[in-house]
Order: sequence, then C-alpha cells, then structure tokens
Amino acid sequence: MDRIKTALDKKRQGTHYADRMHRILGVCQDCGILWHEERVAFTNGSSALRRVHDIEPVGRVLVTPRYEKYGLHVNTRVLPRLKRMAPQFAYALNVPSTAVVVDGNTVYIRVPRNDAEDEGLLTFEEAWSIAEGIPAGSLLLGVDDDRRQLVLEMIAPTNVHAAVVGMTGSGKSTLLKSMILSAQRIGGSQVALFDPSRGFWPLSGHPSVWRGGLFSDPEDCERGLEALANQIGRDLGRLTYVFVDEVPDLIAQRPQIKKHLARLAQAGRHAGLHLIIGAQHLLASDIGSMTLRNIPVRLVGRVADPSAAYQATGRRDTGAESLRGRGDFVAVNGTMTRHFQVAYLTDAELEEWARRYAPRDAMVPVRPEVRKAERAPVHALGHSVAGGGGDGRPPDDIPQEALREINRYVRQHGHRPSLNWVYRMTKEMLPTGGFNRDKARRAIRLAVRAPERAQLHE
Ligand SMILES: Nc1ncnc2c1ncn2[C@@H]1O[C@H](COP(=O)(O)OP(=O)(O)O)[C@@H](O)[C@H]1O
Ligand SMILES: [Mg+2]
Repeated sequence: MDRIKTALDKKRQGTHYADRMHRILGVCQDCGILWHEERVAFTNGSSALRRVHDIEPVGRVLVTPRYEKYGLHVNTRVLPRLKRMAPQFAYALNVPSTAVVVDGNTVYIRVPRNDAEDEGLLTFEEAWSIAEGIPAGSLLLGVDDDRRQLVLEMIAPTNVHAAVVGMTGSGKSTLLKSMILSAQRIGGSQVALFDPSRGFWPLSGHPSVWRGGLFSDPEDCERGLEALANQIGRDLGRLTYVFVDEVPDLIAQRPQIKKHLARLAQAGRHAGLHLIIGAQHLLASDIGSMTLRNIPVRLVGRVADPSAAYQATGRRDTGAESLRGRGDFVAVNGTMTRHFQVAYLTDAELEEWARRYAPRDAMVPVRPEVRKAERAPVHALGHSVAGGGGDGRPPDDIPQEALREINRYVRQHGHRPSLNWVYRMTKEMLPTGGFNRDKARRAIRLAVRAPERAQLHE
C-alpha cells in the first residue's frame, strides 16, 4: 500500500483532482441539479426563498490503480438524473467515459485513469505486503477501492466456492494464479490444479499440489475430478482447493466432468473442499443449474454487456458491464458487491516460483476397472500394449519402444513431452509413421502410468 501511495503522492496531482471535482460540480450546476430553491414561510405570514444544495462534494478523491473516484453526497430527488449524466461528465473532463456508481450513501463519479499510467497496475507482491499473515482458509484477490488488501474467506459458510467469470483477456487466469500462489504461500492447504490451457504450469511443482502436478489433458482432468469427487466423505480431512480453469471448454470435451463438478460443488463445504472455477460464461446449460446455485461467490471481470453482467453475477446492480478488463473486477456474493483490482503475478514472479519448485504434470489416478485389465498377462508381457478385450478401450497398437522413449523423456525432463515431440519421435522410429495427436496423447498416458501401476501391484 505504501508503495502505491507514495507513487501517487509523487505526482502531486492535488490540483488535478480539485480541478476535476470543480468541473463535475459545474456540470451539475449547468443541468440545474446542484441546488434548488425552497420557499420558507415565517409565522408572521411573510415568506422567502432559500437555496438548498442537492449535491455536495465529499472531502476526498479516491484513487485506485485504475480509477479516480469523485465522491458526492446527493439528495435522492436528483439521483435518477445524476445517474444518466455519465456522458456529460466524460465530455467535461475530456475522458472517453465515466460511470456514476452508488456506494452506500456516497455517489461516485468514476473516471478511468490513463492507460499509460497503468503499466505495473498492482503486483502480487504489492498486494501481498499490504497486510501480513493472511489466515489459512482465505485467498488473496487484490486491493479494493480504499486500497485495502482484499482477501476472500473461502471457509466462511456464505462463500465456500467461487466462480471467476469474464470475457477473454479480462484477467480470469491471472486472478486464479494469484489465488493459487496465495494458497501456497499461506500454507495449511492442498491445491488441485486443472487447466487445459496450462497457464497454471509454473505453480504446479509446489509440494502442496495434489497428485504432484498439473492436470491439463481433458481426459486426465476427468479422471482427477472423478477421483476427488469419490474421496468426498473419506479421507479429505485437509483443507483442499480445487482450481479448474476453462470449465465450459473442459465440459464440452469431457461431458462427465459436469457431473463430477456437481458432486464437488454440492458436498464440498462439509468435506473442507473448495471449488474455484474459471469460465467465460456461466450458462446453466453448460455447467448445470445445481452447480451454479452451489457457487455463491462470483468474481467478475469485463463482460460484454448488462445481460452478461447479470448472468455472471446473478444481480442487476453490480455495474460489472462497465469494468475495463485487465484485472478490473467485482466480487459479489449474496449480500455484498466489492470493486477491486486483481493482484497481478508478473512473469518474473512466476519464473522464480517455478525455479524453486520445478513444475510437473500430475500423476493421473487410475480407474479401478482399468487397473484390473492391466493386470492381465497380455499387457505385462506382450510386445505391444493392446487395448481391446475387457477394458472398454478401442483396439490400439502402441509399441513398447515408443513407451520407453516417452518414459525416458519424462525421467530426463521432469515433465511430459509435447504431442509434437511424440509425433517426431515415432515418425523416426516406426515404419508406420508418426502418431497423430490422439494416439500421441494415449501413448503419453500409457507411458506415465506404467510406474504407478508397478507400485499398485507390489
Ligand atoms: N491484474 C492484471 N493487471 C495487469 N494486466 C493484467 C491483469 N490481468 C490480466 N492482465 C493482462 O491481460 C492479459 C490476459 O489475462 P488473462 O488472465 O489471461 O485473461 P483471461 O484468462 O480472462 O483470458 C494478460 O496477459 C495481461 O497482459
Ligand atoms: Mg484464461
């Protein structure tokens, strides 16, 4: 906070703010809503006109990383007109847009700050160091309009699960990453990471990560989420955060995921399990209306229009449609709306974390029926790992040499090879040519599962 404050003080913008407040009041005056005259009657029968102010400035201007906010005390009789005057204020202040937002008994004229001033909006480190000692059970979000550190208490009974919503580029994944890092730095919890776009990768090597790494392949995500859902009521004694980015995308590719998420969302609060999902839209038809009802906290960034804002927040009065993107968010739950700027994890911070805790892919849980099939001698001894037979997979032909190569890669690099790498390797090695993406994916899965299988049978 100190750093933000000093940065602002250095600019000595006192007169800038005073000038803008002056212009705002000027617009009110021109529109005839600054004051009105009332006739007061005296007991002696005479009367006189008296001027009554309907709009008065609040003493200070709030400056957030993204906005200047000019506070006014406003008589409710002029409030409806004032709310429609955002374009006039923008014109008078010579800025592209403003918003008139009501917060308690203060009305703010919210003016976007210059994007040139925005570069280092608000780093994770700045937000983190505003206050020490975030308790386990809470996650860091960023700073609110009063430049206080904003945390989300996930373990509060009114919160439990959260959805991060907004259009592409609004800063969803950035927020999710900051929440993950805060969980890892606070300690006392495990985090399960599901992200088909692999943005969580730099955070996947920390010891708190469930199953030792990132789930990114949609089929692996399905397995992982199923395993988590199956653990409910059994051994999840620990505070567990389940982060899933790109949820509609995952469900479109693996429809079963919808069911697993529904179980996690429903049973979570009793199991100490907290779901945090990222999505561009929250459509009940995609995600399931029960699941949506079980996710009371909405963290919403830039959305296309008022109807998208309503859909994302479940409320009409949040002003989410005027958010600017790049980490400009509102936090909404049943009772409150809070505007905030997301703490931004810089590439340097992420790289530093990845250097300390080398990122890894998750050990994908094996389904019981698959395990049984794999015990059959044909798999252990055969020249190729053939599917078919009793395990429900289509017949396949992935030679052991290819699996060995993939295993060697994993041992050397500490993570899985890319599909392209598998293609090139198999193209060189096999007369039948390189594996396509599907087959490469299958091969990787078979290869990395092999060591785990050995353990299971010992
Ligand atoms: N809090 C933030 N502060 C500054 N820039 C941000 C912030 N959040 C996002 N951005 C910018 O926007 C880009 C897209 O963010 P991202 O989190 O990937 O959005 P989404 O997941 O919603 O598509 C980032 O690469 C970054 O440049
Ligand atoms: Mg994203």
